[in-house]
Amino acid sequence: MFGGIVALGLSTLSAHYFLADKHERPEKMGYAIAGVEPEGGAAAAAVVEPIANRLAKADAAKGEAIFAKCKACHTIDQGAANGIGPNLWGVVGDARAEGRGGYAFSDSLKSKTGKWDFASLDEWLTNPKKFADGTKMSFAGLSDPMDRANVILYLNSKGSNLPLPAPEAVPAAGAAPAGAAAPVAMVGDAAKGEKVFAKCMACHTIEQGGANGIGPNLYGVAGDAIAEGRGGYAFSDALKAHKGVWDQATLDQWLSGPAKFAQGTKMTFAGLTSAQDRADVIAYLNSKGGKLTLGAAPAAAPAK
Ligand code: HEC
Ligand code: HEC
Repeated sequence: MFGGIVALGLSTLSAHYFLADKHERPEKMGYAIAGVEPEGGAAAAAVVEPIANRLAKADAAKGEAIFAKCKACHTIDQGAANGIGPNLWGVVGDARAEGRGGYAFSDSLKSKTGKWDFASLDEWLTNPKKFADGTKMSFAGLSDPMDRANVILYLNSKGSNLPLPAPEAVPAAGAAPAGAAAPVAMVGDAAKGEKVFAKCMACHTIEQGGANGIGPNLYGVAGDAIAEGRGGYAFSDALKAHKGVWDQATLDQWLSGPAKFAQGTKMTFAGLTSAQDRADVIAYLNSKGGKLTLGAAPAAAPAK
């Protein structure tokens, strides 16, 4: 199921860091094979707020409700039995894959030595197989960053009670979460964007008058109304629910994670995790009949 997404190997990089240094990014970008629905929030990785900020507004009661998904395999109360997965009492701050009443952990998770701090739990719960590729935890992950924060806060309330990390300062500009604000500021290179667009060509044409395929023809889409026209292309209700035009910021959000932008979209594409790739492909789209004036947004100061 994970195909190209697994290759992304974000496990050791926070989303934050990832955006901060595009040169460090893995060579292989994560995008789904046509027709394969992304799962486990892989696409969301590039746009999440830092865990400290999410924990500051998290709710343990909501986390308890989310924990219903974990109960098929885990108990949480002190002294409760191990099941398919280990009992999780006091797991926050505890050593990874150790103790837990002699639970037989996979070698894969055992090789991830260290303690379960908030950040590593956040990574783990985003996509367990990405964190430890041979893990026994056959759970796709929680794609919603707030779901993860809520459940981590709940775990912390069960036998750990570690102090929460201080929230990081994030740029105020734009409604988008911290990670998403920076990429908008990037000025893309249309020639590079044309190469990135190879990933889109399975579903889209771009030349004027090109036929609609799995997705609509994209000539002139930059600056055009969202999910309208395009030779009568049958858009999903999810995308149609978004009013307005495809401006630079909106395109950037969409291409970061289509399913996150419009839950229920027909575009089964995990998203472009690299902010530079998004900026480049947006510049390319704009060069094909687009109406946008692309530029650097003023508020692109590093999130510190
Ligand atoms: C389908 C069964 C299953 C589900 C559902 C599941 N887990 Fe697990 N979990 C496991 C297994 C199996 C392991 C041991 C992994 C290994 O050894 O590779 C594990 C390990 C863990 C660990 C590491 C424990 C340690 O001591 O290192 C944590 C934390 C955890 N799970 C949290 C969760 C949370 C939170 C959820 C729900 C959001 C969840 N799990 C859902 C089966 C599951
Ligand atoms: C697997 C097929 C597929 C791939 C790959 C794909 N798309 Fe799409 N795209 C679609 C579909 C289907 C829609 C219509 C979505 C809907 O209606 O929910 C769409 C819609 C869009 C729209 C909105 C068009 C409008 O008029 O509102 C844009 C912009 C877009 N895609 C850009 C891209 C770019 C850029 C890439 C590559 C980085 C890409 N897509 C990759 C299938 C795909």
